[in-house]
Amino acid sequence: MLVNAAEMLNKAREGHYAVGQFNINNLEWTKSVLAAAQEMNSPVILGVSEGAGKYMAGFRTVAAMVREIHDFMGITVPVALHLDHGSYEGAKACIDAGFTSIMFDGSHYPIEENVAKTTELVNAAHEAGLSIEAEVGAIGGEEDGVIGAGEVADAAECARIAELGVDFLAAGIGNIHGKYPANWKGLDFEALAAIKAATGDMPLVLHGGTGIPTDMIRKAIDLGVSKINVNTECQLSFAAATREYIEAGKDLQGKGFDPRKLLAPGAAAIKETVKEKIELFGSANKA
Ligand code: 13P
Repeated sequence: MLVNAAEMLNKAREGHYAVGQFNINNLEWTKSVLAAAQEMNSPVILGVSEGAGKYMAGFRTVAAMVREIHDFMGITVPVALHLDHGSYEGAKACIDAGFTSIMFDGSHYPIEENVAKTTELVNAAHEAGLSIEAEVGAIGGEEDGVIGAGEVADAAECARIAELGVDFLAAGIGNIHGKYPANWKGLDFEALAAIKAATGDMPLVLHGGTGIPTDMIRKAIDLGVSKINVNTECQLSFAAATREYIEAGKDLQGKGFDPRKLLAPGAAAIKETVKEKIELFGSANKA
């Protein structure tokens, strides 16, 4: 059974580790992330952006696929299916489609409108048994058409959104989706400490997990981050392994063109990346 993400993240906050959210794109991604979590005995969150939801033929298809793969593989670690950077409409659609967790990204609305929409979605999500993440201060860069300026979240605004009953909160602290530019200034730990002080026991979420140096990840967890989102890094691992297979001409040998063979190195590479992240985030053996 899929679970909502509230309990696993509250445990992570108490235990000073973080649970990884790994974004999925298709069946291979889903199997690889689930296999990695099971092997590491770790809770895990499968993230689905609105773009990836469309690509996979809609949220209902995604929910059915994830549930069936989860059961078929006999997964026993806690798994949540979470909408990533949801719009107001997308969040409602995922509640209906059978997701177990949603993110409402109202960071581009004026704060009053963000508050009103978040309140409505908190009630709808909780009524249906889902957990809900909200965002304050946009995450920089671009993910599936969601573009953010990368502003640092204001601690007082974070406290205001936290009070609405959200289960965990994403706060911009200089983090960026995709690869970090060479001149990136790093995470703003002063802002993170202020947000933590203002939001108390609220588990905090770090987006843009790809390419953040290990010492910064550890410090962010120390300062209250309980969920770390990773997307691009799995895509890079998949692409590199697939490229290697094709450049070695393996698709031309025997039945190497069989998609089950062609996609296998990429799927194995995703699994390896997820296992490394689980180790780094400290969630191994916390299932
Ligand atoms: P990356 O693509 O930078 O890993 O970010 C993932 C993310 O934050 C998903 O919301």
